[in-house]
Amino acid sequence: PGTDVEELRALARSLAREAGALVREGRPARVEVAATKSSAVDPVTAMDRASEELLRTRLAAERPDDAILGEEGDDVPGTSGLTWVLDPIDGTVNYLYGVSSYAVSVAVVAGPPDPERWTALAGCVHSVVDGRTWTAARGGGAERDGRALRVSAPPSLAQSLVGTGFGYAAERRARQAEVLAEVLPRVRDIRRLGAAAIDLCLVAEGALDLYYERGINAWDVAAGGLVAAEAGAWVGGLRGRGPSSTMTVAGAVPVVAELVALLEDAGADGREGVTRS
Ligand code: IPD
Repeated sequence: PGTDVEELRALARSLAREAGALVREGRPARVEVAATKSSAVDPVTAMDRASEELLRTRLAAERPDDAILGEEGDDVPGTSGLTWVLDPIDGTVNYLYGVSSYAVSVAVVAGPPDPERWTALAGCVHSVVDGRTWTAARGGGAERDGRALRVSAPPSLAQSLVGTGFGYAAERRARQAEVLAEVLPRVRDIRRLGAAAIDLCLVAEGALDLYYERGINAWDVAAGGLVAAEAGAWVGGLRGRGPSSTMTVAGAVPVVAELVALLEDAGADGREGVTRS
């Protein structure tokens, strides 16, 4: 198996679509919570596990030398230097309730499996209910179902539609609500759609101008972050850092810089705000 990014993109697409079909066709009328993870409101369903199992089985057959980092299972070590980063259902709460924004996210990265340090090579986000499929390959652009994507060009933060998300821990949510109270009066409006991978793809196609979230996991951002970046978005963190669980921000230049400054002032990365002159 090689490292041609277009081949990796094609594999990410076929894996995400196959798992997406499983999730779509196998969703029972009433979904049960199989377990909870970081908190009592952070659910895992049998389908999260089944979808990840399918992805892992396919990868073991097609890319046996690559490592795997997935939301629902143990890390698989590899020897190739590449890691597949899997979110078998991003937007599990939406899946649970039947709200239609949830996706399978598959990405492959080179280097350490850490969004601040990896080089994402290819990725696919497949929206399960409506079939929208976004892909990107490093240097090869981002597309949705064959249409090349380009970020929006809002004139100001005040006229920007901003996506965000919240963690599952009560303490973090209380802090996120304080930051949101700073952001909401300064933007066109806020959307909390419930699947970070889709939010990032919406930034790529200009359906959201900006996105930010604290507490995001590597698998939430791996494919969507590359889709957004390949569509021209700046994807990073605060205070000169890269995208990380501390803070991930995405959007078009130059407006994204206004949001970064606002989030820095609000101490959205857990540090005290700095006063700007
Ligand atoms: C969650 C979603 C949500 C985001 C959370 C994530 P999951 O992923 O992406 O939009 O706000 O931070 O944990 O748990 O549904 O895979």
